[in-house]
Amino acid sequence: MQRLRLIPPVIIAHRGYRKRYPENTLAAFAAAFDAGARMVELDVTLTRDRRVVVLHDDTLDRTTDGRGQVRGFTLDELKQLDAGSWFDPRFTGERLPTLEEVLDLCAVRGMVNIEIKAGAFEAGRLADAIEEQVLAAVAERGMGDRVLISSFETRFLARIADRTNAPAVGVLTEWRIGSDPLSLCKKLRAFSWHPDFRSVTTARVRAMHAAGIMVFPYTVNRSEDFRGLLQMGVDGIFTDDPTLLQASIRRVAGKKSSSP
Ligand code: G3P
Ligand code: MG
Repeated sequence: MQRLRLIPPVIIAHRGYRKRYPENTLAAFAAAFDAGARMVELDVTLTRDRRVVVLHDDTLDRTTDGRGQVRGFTLDELKQLDAGSWFDPRFTGERLPTLEEVLDLCAVRGMVNIEIKAGAFEAGRLADAIEEQVLAAVAERGMGDRVLISSFETRFLARIADRTNAPAVGVLTEWRIGSDPLSLCKKLRAFSWHPDFRSVTTARVRAMHAAGIMVFPYTVNRSEDFRGLLQMGVDGIFTDDPTLLQASIRRVAGKKSSSP
């Protein structure tokens, strides 16, 4: 399992610079790096012809001018859709990117967290399963030391953790944590824990750190929440607004350096 070289706290742009750009588009990822994010987060799922496309929802309705299930269309068909104008007419013509297109952008800009959507899990070990395609795309580009793979579906993570020289994995958990997140992270040899920010406590952060696991809460957009989490010692934060997070990090760092 590879480890990422990071200087905490890391600004992780959730679906790109989602506050000001259409989420999960090349425009949103490029803007996030421009705004100071060190890592961008994206969501991947499979198309009808089993290509890896970047999109959060199972359906096209919210973030494109198409309708219906993503799995109902080929990549060529999905590439005809407009993924920008729903957000603002200025972004008309943005397309749904493939994972490979985003990796090519990140190769020269920064790190990337690939969240594999739980609905894309397939029980059989298919050669072109989404996790196999993700690992191949990362390896082809020599980006294993700059990629973090996460999922709410721990069976993806178990499969990846088994591989030699696999990229780092992050364990996503919901607000109401069912099982003990520390045991789960240890079992999956996780690099990081990605909790709903409302479930983070100082004790949990300390326990993760004692086990060598980083803590990256999602999805935080208010200054007061940034401040509280930074004071608890989290190692990075997923946000739709990297500019606001950067300002909070500077304020908290300024207070620490000026306190006696
Ligand atoms: O990976 C953090 C966050 O993206 C998880 O939730 O629904 O925004 O993909 P969601
Ligand atoms: Mg996500």
